Amino acid sequence: MAVPVEQKLLHTEEVCSITEQLSEKEQVTELNKFRFSVCALFHDLSRFEQYTRFRTFRDADSFDHGDKSAELMLSGDFIAELPDSEKDLIATAIRAHNKMTIPSNLTGDVLAAAKMVRDADKLSILGIIYRYLTGQIPHDPTMKLDLPETDTYSPSIYQAVIDGSPVNYADLRSMNDFLLILCTWTADLNYRASRHYAAEHGLYDRLLSLLPEDDNTKRLPELIRKRLTGGAV
Ligand SMILES: [Fe+2]
Repeated sequence: MAVPVEQKLLHTEEVCSITEQLSEKEQVTELNKFRFSVCALFHDLSRFEQYTRFRTFRDADSFDHGDKSAELMLSGDFIAELPDSEKDLIATAIRAHNKMTIPSNLTGDVLAAAKMVRDADKLSILGIIYRYLTGQIPHDPTMKLDLPETDTYSPSIYQAVIDGSPVNYADLRSMNDFLLILCTWTADLNYRASRHYAAEHGLYDRLLSLLPEDDNTKRLPELIRKRLTGGAV
């Protein structure tokens, strides 16, 4: 099995597991537990078609994988027995999972579901990228969005980390930029349990050790620690 396909299968399993753990910690209702688990299971359904057809995980060079995953899930009858209102909720959360920000029109349980799948997705990816960059996953350029490995990073993306603002994946120029984008996620982990999960598992400690060391990047461990543990930044 190709490395990117195998890793997406493992990622899906991990997102399901993390979703269960976060749902437990956040004491969500049984109905939301079910909804969130379905979102986790299908959120990246289109990644397999994306890799097979385009040999990339870059949405800009293929298709929007959140929108496509929702479309495949609905057309495949995976959740055919659910009422339309539930199908809509799950599909909407899946469409929202990979957008720069959560669409502002989402409210209530659909918003809760979108926040959960985004968080669990991010927490899993943080671990995958670390394992990839430390050689625990076989080399494959698809895994790093085909980005070059350089000693530099983009100042604008570093600034986005400091500001806690989102970054468009199309603006990434290097693998270090990708590591910095992962740092911007500290401002986009919606649930308290998600921030605790990242801190408890040392997800950022591991990633930060891979960035080039300079006066800018030396600031990041403390900034991230405060964001994850709720301290002032
Ligand atoms: Fe995704």
